[in-house]
Amino acid sequence: DIAYFNGKFLPLDEIRISPLDRGFIFGDGIYEVVPVYNGVPLHGREHFDRLQRSCDEILMKNPHTTDEWMAITMDLLKHHPGNQSVYIHVTRGVQSKRDHVIPKGLPNTVMMFCYPLASPSKESVENGVACVTAEDFRWKKNHVKSISLLGNVLARQVSVDAGAVETIMFRDGFMTEASASNAFVVKGGTVLAAPQDNLILLGITYQLLEKLAKDGTLKLEVRPISRAEVLAADEVWLSSSTKEVLAVTTLDGKPVGNGQPGPMFRKMHALYQDYKS
Ligand code: PDD
Repeated sequence: DIAYFNGKFLPLDEIRISPLDRGFIFGDGIYEVVPVYNGVPLHGREHFDRLQRSCDEILMKNPHTTDEWMAITMDLLKHHPGNQSVYIHVTRGVQSKRDHVIPKGLPNTVMMFCYPLASPSKESVENGVACVTAEDFRWKKNHVKSISLLGNVLARQVSVDAGAVETIMFRDGFMTEASASNAFVVKGGTVLAAPQDNLILLGITYQLLEKLAKDGTLKLEVRPISRAEVLAADEVWLSSSTKEVLAVTTLDGKPVGNGQPGPMFRKMHALYQDYKS
């Protein structure tokens, strides 16, 4: 299983990371996940442009340009044909002693590996999935794709414990996103999407759904979505690079709409499948 580590390709299990790596000590780093269909990254450049924005937000130099990142990705993919998720992980590097102060001139730690892309099962597309709701207690820089994911991990566990696939979160009574995906609501034939601010990670898939809605003449509005609107929705969806677009058919154990993936979902799912192929 060949991975990439600081300029070299080597087996994943031969990578050695220092305990003084700031990623390990402070969770001081950022990441990306790029979906790959038949050897072709979907929106690779958009993912690496977002990685640049994450670097800027955490005052970290990006070790590579988008072109360089794309080239490394294509070299890594030579070892991994087919459908893959490429995981990209960049930390602020290895320090000689533990110190919160951001060091100057430290080389980043860069690691990339692949795992087979598990697209949603036919069953979950046809029947939808169960989700639960929870308070969003994360920090206020969720637009940064930070490797510090404890808030997301604990949020995800709420749905694991309930036997559900995702946890949709609310901050001050408004929907933000799910633990590892974005969330959408459909009401009266309009798709509602959460504001593109610091309270969510603006998904590359979210942005693709916006574009597909526009091209496919589905009405989509970006605005704050209250808890009451989510609970009274006709449809609820999730989106991410690995989940694509999925219908949420039960929320906190209660059916969403009529409890089946809705007509707007079917349209969007078809547009998505068409687009990626
Ligand atoms: N997660 N919001 C959060 C908190 C996420 O972790 C993700 C992606 C998204 C959707 O982003 P995109 O459409 O660009 O994948 C939204 C990735 C897949 C992960 O952590 O595995």
